[in-house]
Order: sequence, then C-alpha cells, then structure tokens
Amino acid sequence: MAYYFSEPSRTFSEYLLVPGYSSSECVPANVSLRTPIVKFKKGEQSALYANIPLVSAIMQAVSDDKMAIALAREGGISFIYGSQSVESEAAMVARVKAYKAGFIVSDSNIKPDQTLADILALKKKTGHSTVAVTDDGTATGKLLGIVTSRDYRISRMSTEEKVESFMTPFEKLITAPADTTLKEANNIIWDHKLNSLPLVDENQHLVYMVFRKDYDSHKENALELLDKDKRYIVGAGINTRDYAERVPALVEAGADVLCIDSSEGFSEWQSRTIAWIREHYGDTVKVGAGNVVDREGFRFLAEAGADFVKIGIGGGSICITREQKGIGRGQATAVIEVAAARDEYYKETGIYIPICSDGGIVHDYHVTLALAMGADFIMLGRYFSRFDESPTNKVNIGGTFMKEYWGEGSARARNWQRYDLGGAQKLSFEEGVDSYVPYAGSLKDNVTLTLNKVRSTMCNCGALTISELQEKAKITLVSATSIVEGGAHDVVLKDTAVSAHK
Ligand code: IMP
Repeated sequence: MAYYFSEPSRTFSEYLLVPGYSSSECVPANVSLRTPIVKFKKGEQSALYANIPLVSAIMQAVSDDKMAIALAREGGISFIYGSQSVESEAAMVARVKAYKAGFIVSDSNIKPDQTLADILALKKKTGHSTVAVTDDGTATGKLLGIVTSRDYRISRMSTEEKVESFMTPFEKLITAPADTTLKEANNIIWDHKLNSLPLVDENQHLVYMVFRKDYDSHKENALELLDKDKRYIVGAGINTRDYAERVPALVEAGADVLCIDSSEGFSEWQSRTIAWIREHYGDTVKVGAGNVVDREGFRFLAEAGADFVKIGIGGGSICITREQKGIGRGQATAVIEVAAARDEYYKETGIYIPICSDGGIVHDYHVTLALAMGADFIMLGRYFSRFDESPTNKVNIGGTFMKEYWGEGSARARNWQRYDLGGAQKLSFEEGVDSYVPYAGSLKDNVTLTLNKVRSTMCNCGALTISELQEKAKITLVSATSIVEGGAHDVVLKDTAVSAHK
C-alpha cells in the first residue's frame, strides 16, 4: 500500500516567527550571517563558509561571471550555470577567479592614428571618458598614451585631429608595475592627484587600469568572499552525464565548489557522479547534491558522500514540475524534515552536512524562516534574476522595466540533463516556463535591504548567529484568516486612491 504522510506539506507563507527575548547586545550590527557551505566533522571548521547565507541559482537567466563577482563582493556565492558547453562554463569560472576588485581591464582603447571623432564615438558607446591609446588599439597592447576629456576641446579642434597629437604621451604618464597592490595603487593615485593609474608590464603593455572613483566602492565591501589568494569564491553546476569532462575543466578553472544540478536528486545517477569525483579527487573537490525533499533522500545523498544537500522540488517560481508530473513537496515542510534528518545524521556520525533551501523565496522574511527551520543557506533564482547583474535582457513592457527569467526545464534553456533519468537526449516535455520579472536595480542595494530585514528579525528572536536562530526560533503556523491580517488591510492605500481618482 502507498505511504501516506499524516500532515499536509506546507510552504513558507504559512508560518511566522514569534519573537523571543532580545538583550541590548542584540542589535543588527552585531549579527553574523556567516554560514558553512560544505560538510565538516564535529569540533572542526568547514572548508568553505559564505559570509551571507545567499547563493544564486544554477540557471542561464541568473548565474554568469558578472553575477558571481557581484554576489561574492557581498559575501555570497553564485553557482555558474551548467547548461552550456564545458568550455564556456569553465571560461566563466576562470573570469571570476581572474577578476581583481578595483583592477579594470580597459574597455575604451584606441590606436594613435585614429581621430578625435573616434574618441567621441567611443565615449558615447562606453560612457567612459578615459581612453587608453595602445599600438594595436586593444586593452593589452603597448601603452602609448592616455586621452581624457582634459586633453581636447571640441570647440577649438577639428574632429579629424589624430589622437597622437593631443594624447598625454606615455613618457608624461604616471604608471605602475602590473603586480602593484590595490592599496599601493590607491596611494599613488592620492599622492599624485590622479584620476586613473595604468598598470603596465615589463614590455610597457597595458594590464589594468585603477580608477580613483572606484576606491570607495572597494573599501565598502567588508563581507566580500575571497579565497586564500584573495580571489572571489565561485561555485559551478555539473550534471550526472558529462562529469568526466566537465569536473576536470571546472576544477582547472578554479571553481571552489560544485553542485549537481538536478530536479530530482534521490537517484543512482547522483551517487555515481559523487563516487567518480571521490575516486579522482578524494575530498579535495567539494560537491553538493540534490534536490531532495525528505529524510530518505537526505540520507541517501549523505551516505553517497555529498558535501551539502539541496532541498526543493516544485516550489521554484518558474517551475511547473508539480503540474506536469505531480511530484514535489511544500518547501517549508521539506526543509523542516531534511533539517531534522541532518541533525540526526550529525548526532550519529559527528558529521555536519549543510543543507540549502532552493527555490520558492517570495518575500524577504522567507529567507529568515528557511534559516530558522534549519537551512544553512538559501538558493534563489527569481530574486537575483531581477537585478542589473543578471545575464538577461532588460525590457520595457507597457512602461515598466522587466528582466527576462526562464526555467532550466523550459524549452528555451534546453537543459535536458537536469531532468535526465537515463537515456534521454532532449526534453520530452517542459518543467519550466519563460517569463518576465519586475526589474529591481542593483544586487548590492537589494541584498543589503533583504539582509537588514533578516538581521533585524534575528534580533527579535534573540539570535546573533544563524545557529542561534535555529536553536531559539519559535515558529507558528498561521491560519488562512490571519494571513489576510498580515498585509495592510481595511485601509485605502494612498497610491490606489490617487490613481483611481485620476
Ligand atoms: P526561484 O528562486 O523560486 O525562482 O527558484 C529557483 C529554483 O527553481 C532553481 O534553483 C531550481 O532549483 C529550480 N528550477 C530552475 N529551473 C526550473 C524549471 O524549469 N523547472 C523547475 N524548477 C526549476
């Protein structure tokens, strides 16, 4: 006979946190959101922590190298999408690892025999007024000079004038060697009252530009997540098909952590993938697995050797798995059960396996609830897709800016490996949709706001760390009627009243 769960499965919006005692120490500025990403033994440290509990989803519409840099700068981790060729995924990882905060590869470059008209056109295209003059017009050519808006006066010069006649030539420039640190570069900029400092190699080839205006923004990121060589931490998605090619390429490119990206993780395919990684790399390559939604699924992946386990089937905003296949589980119930299984496993073995709640975060407080229910970190797709840094188009629909966002199981992404149960070579039916989400601005502004709310709620619960929140949280189910009470009610919102009157 089939097994029946005794309780309905529930989602985050059906719960609320009940405040606990907060001491005067319990203020948002004292809250730490540092959280383990990969498993560790009792009494030891995890080999990888994030400074904030947010990771971006393994999706084409979400996690490329630009997103990864922006999120690592705020303390989180992106998992670069795996539904692309091995080479292009590895190249994205390599770009994140090569990125040096504050060191810019010049995007405005010109040859000395080009003209003022070309400078003006370039300025219009890039929006930048500092142009590097190199022998071949590339960002890494031999540096011959620099042009800024102080070098020309449009009203007094012909637009046909050659760049070499009005640029500041190399001999008059202050430059620094390629291995200059950001701190040293900034000191040179301040000492000489410069706006920019070119870094050149021993052959006078341009390597980077450091700009004065970036100084403050690079001082601000107290939580940025760096490896021991001060490079940004980045994750990458893999599948259960081509791991023998993909994993070595990603490891070589410098990926700090991998994750098997699959809609359903309780499968032999996942244990085979993890076994292959352990056979070839031992414990040096860290790999998460999933997705599961119950104790059995967690135990299976824990015993298969997963470094973290990801939870969630059917709750993603673009997901139609439940409709198409009738499988899944309310995300809150899934997190609560898997967290209990994780704690039970820890008690038995002394090994703590972090768990990640993936998908279905609609309100910021859902993040706090997921953490309180036992998640160590949260994976979000829709949330990050709305930002400037996501790889998708920003479009104007009826006067409102939107970003595109599509599921990995949609025909657009064609990520058949994610849904593969062996044998398939293409998607036979879709499990995701192609959609728009309201454009929301920069990642930094949004993540700051979200985490301010999380920190503030943690203080209301008397918790200064995520593990303290998990111990102390008091969580209540809410009735359908009290959910209505949760929003503004029985008032006429001014915006609505004004627009109705127009
Ligand atoms: P969101 O944060 O609610 O948008 O959910 C993102 C999560 O949905 C991802 O991390 C995946 O686990 C899942 N997902 C991505 N694409 C699809 C799809 O096409 N169908 C079902 N689930 C998907």
